[in-house]
This record gives sequence, structure tokens and C-alpha cells, in this order.
Amino acid sequence: MKFFIDTANLAQIKEAHDLGVLDGVTTNPSLMAKEGIKGEANILKHYADICELVDGPISAEVLSTDFKSMVEEGKKLAAIHPNIVVKVPMIKDGVKALKYFTDNGIKTNCTLVFSAGQAILAAKAGATFVSPFIGRIDDSSWDGVELIAQIAQIYSIQGFKTEILAASIRNALHIVKCAEAGADICTCPLDSILGLLKHPLTDIGLAKFLEDAKKM
Ligand code: G3P
Repeated sequence: MKFFIDTANLAQIKEAHDLGVLDGVTTNPSLMAKEGIKGEANILKHYADICELVDGPISAEVLSTDFKSMVEEGKKLAAIHPNIVVKVPMIKDGVKALKYFTDNGIKTNCTLVFSAGQAILAAKAGATFVSPFIGRIDDSSWDGVELIAQIAQIYSIQGFKTEILAASIRNALHIVKCAEAGADICTCPLDSILGLLKHPLTDIGLAKFLEDAKKM
């Protein structure tokens, strides 16, 4: 399973990259706004900066909701760098845009996916990645990880090539459960990636080894 980081924060992207386990980056308008990135030129520059930091797929989301504008915007984003993946919402015009980008060799990430039906549509349109939002599903008292397992089963039976990118990860256990359920990628906040490191017995064991090392 690949690891993407779900942030537009350059320092956090660098920290995850320096750990040596980072395969890509996802952003969304909320994450860009959180970093105070405003105006088209700054937005495009910020994506270019991320592409300089990480050599892997970098998702950049379109802000329009009609087919024609999504295509225009997506082309502009894709022109920033060959690693840019155009992120498109799961709406009717979004599906049309996914198909257009697929036919024109532009990689896509279909976002805001909350059901297996939506995941089938995204795959039919040729999306490179599909992003089920597992944390938000859990928030509404459904099981997000179960959706990952269902999509993984459907894609495997049907031979769909779209990669399952588990998004809206909230903790380290989500990552473990998504790996078990067959996600191809988890996109996670830095805290959730670092959360995988934690075990009290590791800390206790290391303290003891270091103490005993003094007697060596
Ligand atoms: O990038 C999309 C997704 O990961 C958002 O996560 O925590 O806002 O539900 P969250």
C-alpha cells in the first residue's frame, strides 16, 4: 500500500518525505485555504512547489462544477507538472470530465466518494484514483473501512484498474484497517502516519536496552 500525505502544508510534506515512506500528496480547497493560499497564480505556484518536494502523484482539485470549466481548469492544472493528478468531484459533470481527461491522457482522482455505486461510476469513467472519504462516513455512523473492502472486492471481480485511495483518514488504526481491506493507497494527515510509530513497549524496550548498553 502506498502512502500519500493529505495536506498543503509544505513543512509537513517535507517531514513525511524525509521519513522516506511518502509516495504522493493530496490537497483539497479546504487544505489550501488553511495554508492561506489565495489567487490563481499563488495556487498554481503552490502546486508547483509541492511537485518540487515530492516525486509522485500530486492531486490538485478543480474548483468549478460544470464540464466545460472543469476541463479548462484541469488542463491548466495538468500543465503545471507531469505528476499533477486532476481531482474532480463525484457529480454528473465530474464524471463527464473524468472521461474527457482519461481520453486525453490526464490522470484523475475522483473525490467525495461515499458509496460503492459512485466508485463503480468513477472506474467506468477511467479515473486513475477513487477517493472514498472513510472518516466522514464513520462520522455519520456508517463504516468507512467496510466501504473500502466492498470497493476492493468489486474492482477485483470486475477487473477495474482504478486505484483505491482511502481518504479522510483520521488515525493510525484507519491506515491499518484500510491496508487490511485492500486499499491501494492511504492519504493521511502527518499525525496519522507518525501514529503508526507508537507503541509503549517499544519505548520501554529501548530505554532498557540503552540502560543495559552502559554496562557493555
Ligand atoms: O482530501 C480529502 C479528505 O482526506 C478530507 O479529510 O478529514 O476533511 O474528512 P477530512
